[in-house]
Amino acid sequence: MASSIQLWTAFVILLVQPVLIFTQPLVDRATVFDSASQVKQQYDYVVVGGGTAGLTVANRLTEDPSVSVLVIEYGPLDKLEPEVLVPGLPTPKAYSRNYVSVPQPGLLNKPQPVYSAAVVGGGTVINGMFFNRGSAADYDGWETLGNPGWGWSGLLPYFKKSENFTPPPPELAEYPISTDLGPHGTKGPVGSSFPQYQYPILKLFYKAWNSIGVPSNPQPNGGRAVDAFYSTLSLTAWNQSRCSAATAYYRPIEGKRPNFHLLTLHSVTKVVIDKRKKRATGVQYLRQNATQTAHPPSVRAKHEVIVAAGAPRSPQILQLSGVGPRKLLSRFGIDVIEDLPGVGYNFQDQPTMFAGVTYDYSKYPAPSPDLYFSNQTWVDLQLKIYYENRTGPDTQAYLSGTTVAFLSLRRLTGDYQKIIASAKKADLAKALPAGADKTLLEGYKAQQAAILTDYKSPDAAVHELAFAGGETIALVVLKPLSRGSILINSSKPLADPVFDYGTFQHPADIQVAVAMYKKFRQFVAAEPWKAVGMTETKPGPSVQGNAAIEAAIRNITQSTWSHPVGTCAMLPRRYGGVVDPQLRVYGVDGLSVVDASVMPTIPATHTSSTVYAVAEKAADIIKARRRKG
Ligand SMILES: Cc1cc2nc3c(=O)[nH]c(=O)nc-3n(C[C@H](O)[C@H](O)[C@H](O)COP(=O)(O)OP(=O)(O)OC[C@H]3O[C@@H](n4cnc5c(N)ncnc54)[C@H](O)[C@@H]3O)c2cc1C
Ligand SMILES: *[C@@H]1O[C@H](CO)[C@@H](O)[C@H](O)[C@H]1NC(C)=O
Ligand SMILES: *[C@@H]1O[C@H](CO)[C@@H](O)[C@H](O)[C@H]1NC(C)=O
Ligand SMILES: *[C@@H]1O[C@H](CO)[C@@H](O)[C@H](O)[C@H]1NC(C)=O
Ligand SMILES: *[C@@H]1O[C@H](CO)[C@@H](O)[C@H](O)[C@H]1NC(C)=O
Ligand SMILES: *[C@@H]1O[C@H](CO)[C@@H](O)[C@H](O)[C@H]1NC(C)=O
Ligand SMILES: *[C@@H]1O[C@H](CO)[C@@H](O)[C@H](O)[C@H]1NC(C)=O
Repeated sequence: MASSIQLWTAFVILLVQPVLIFTQPLVDRATVFDSASQVKQQYDYVVVGGGTAGLTVANRLTEDPSVSVLVIEYGPLDKLEPEVLVPGLPTPKAYSRNYVSVPQPGLLNKPQPVYSAAVVGGGTVINGMFFNRGSAADYDGWETLGNPGWGWSGLLPYFKKSENFTPPPPELAEYPISTDLGPHGTKGPVGSSFPQYQYPILKLFYKAWNSIGVPSNPQPNGGRAVDAFYSTLSLTAWNQSRCSAATAYYRPIEGKRPNFHLLTLHSVTKVVIDKRKKRATGVQYLRQNATQTAHPPSVRAKHEVIVAAGAPRSPQILQLSGVGPRKLLSRFGIDVIEDLPGVGYNFQDQPTMFAGVTYDYSKYPAPSPDLYFSNQTWVDLQLKIYYENRTGPDTQAYLSGTTVAFLSLRRLTGDYQKIIASAKKADLAKALPAGADKTLLEGYKAQQAAILTDYKSPDAAVHELAFAGGETIALVVLKPLSRGSILINSSKPLADPVFDYGTFQHPADIQVAVAMYKKFRQFVAAEPWKAVGMTETKPGPSVQGNAAIEAAIRNITQSTWSHPVGTCAMLPRRYGGVVDPQLRVYGVDGLSVVDASVMPTIPATHTSSTVYAVAEKAADIIKARRRKG
């Protein structure tokens, strides 16, 4: 831990820096600007979206000073405000762009929120900072589905390349955390470490799981992400501040690479594709809130357009550009350049019971994060402690915590074989969204086979219970079999697409959810946990039996754990894929997708560290194909 003098110096520098920045002419700094007049006519690469993946790829490509890159980002650059840097403060609302899905039949027809970022650095500027990986099996499933090189062993070097891991501080010695550096990277740009504080209740969390047969796992990042563990966070260890993609991949090169341009507050409306050559030549874009004009500004890409707008938005951009399901595009009068039925399908997120489960504690060992809502004196004191000493609860992301249990299906329920057997009998054609092409059904069958292999494995998780300390417990279906879609409903680029999660459309998902709920109750009743005097108030102890629990779950589940993926899937074309294993969009030259949308199946984890690994690997692939020319 740094002394407070060092920390003060850091803060003074931070305060002075913006002044220095704004006294320099913008063009010399030549990296960030928010006016189209500074954009050159042509770059080697144009990256659509300056989020987690977009900044990673752009940073790596511009390591070669002869390669020019323009990143166009819808949102602004953050101002290094405390709400971004101090993990314990709620992040600024201005940096998200949220939507509402269509009503979900699996959830009593309630529409569901879609959370997404709108800021340089994307999701990592506003997320809960969990920074863990899936099990080897999660990624090996990608490889099985037709993507050589994308299994665990192919991705591990890139998990390491992005990571700057710092082992836990002595304060955490009594928690099950391995100091083994084996699977970690220590020279990468993304800070990965542990907060300098723990709520006292957490010791009981591990004891309670252990008492019901779930061991603690000190090394969840080496390919076995199961059991009760302490998650790494995307946190810079020395100053305990949030590490986002902007911190890791943009700020270190800001002003230092004239070949890197970042245009903020602009929205890409379309990839321009030469129809005869079937080649992407650039993009059109608009100022954030401008209305569409007949001649929007455009910029050319010599080598490639790299779409990195995130899983909620990347499919919309392809569809508007004439790359997508023919029937959909024709309905809106869009000229079809490539009939690619998978664009926007295969949408996956992790259904979560969150606010709908409530309880009381009679003997909670103080303090509790619920003080954030009830005691402003305490809140102010914690911030003071954070600023003075970089310790205390504010070193953890706001109401997010660090403590999780990731359970395999066989640890979750004795009925695991029954669930697998009944999943195999499900009518997959009925579970897919209406209008899905027959190649998507083929891909879905292959995905189900791969996922059910994970369901059988003791080393792959299907469920997460995340405990933030107080009232906040989340129960998550990590590897759902249901699929949704994100499809345009207008040819207007500024209109939102239609989000349909398809939550619980596959019958196995609700069975897993019911098993989760029962396991949660077993945890609450475990002898060590009795010390906190926890009683369930909602749905409440009167809800018993599978049918009643299922009905309650449909009422309290939210479709998302803020981990949307899969909408431009890396899969063979015969499986409804959108990009090949080199992340090139099928049928169009000079066009690739690099973000969470390429994940063919959702890994059983929080997604940010996987997005970084995917983008690091993508950067190497893109560099290599340019060398081959
Ligand atoms: C609220 C929230 C909490 C989360 N919590 C966690 C967590 O605790 N741990 C974890 O690992 N993961 C978490 N995640 C998920 C994780 O942050 C994401 O999976 C990851 O950041 C996605 O990276 P991406 O590059 O695919 O997309 P993003 O990082 O979202 O980047 C996409 C960017 O593209 C921009 N964009 C979109 N459309 C356009 C356009 N037309 N033109 C120009 N730019 C455009 C967006 O503004 C955005 O900045 C959370 C996400 C959210 C939203
Ligand atoms: C913390 O340190 C990292 C890297 O050393 C730096 O990028 C970041 O700005 C620092 N945060 C604060 C609040 O000083
Ligand atoms: C766009 O509109 C939003 C909402 O009204 C506003 O907050 C934002 O500042 C506007 N952006 C620009 C670039 O004017
Ligand atoms: C609020 O927090 C302060 C600081 O921790 C504490 O001294 C005070 O007793 C708390 N007030 C209540 C009502 O709990
Ligand atoms: C910071 O740490 C020092 C040394 O342990 C301690 O004296 C001081 O009270 C702490 N600051 C706060 C606000 O708790
Ligand atoms: C799609 O667009 C039509 C016509 O504008 C509108 O009536 C309908 O509500 C939209 N559907 C959704 C789900 O937004
Ligand atoms: C759903 O939950 C709400 C809020 O707790 C409750 O009022 C309602 O009765 C529940 N509905 C069903 C069908 O369980």
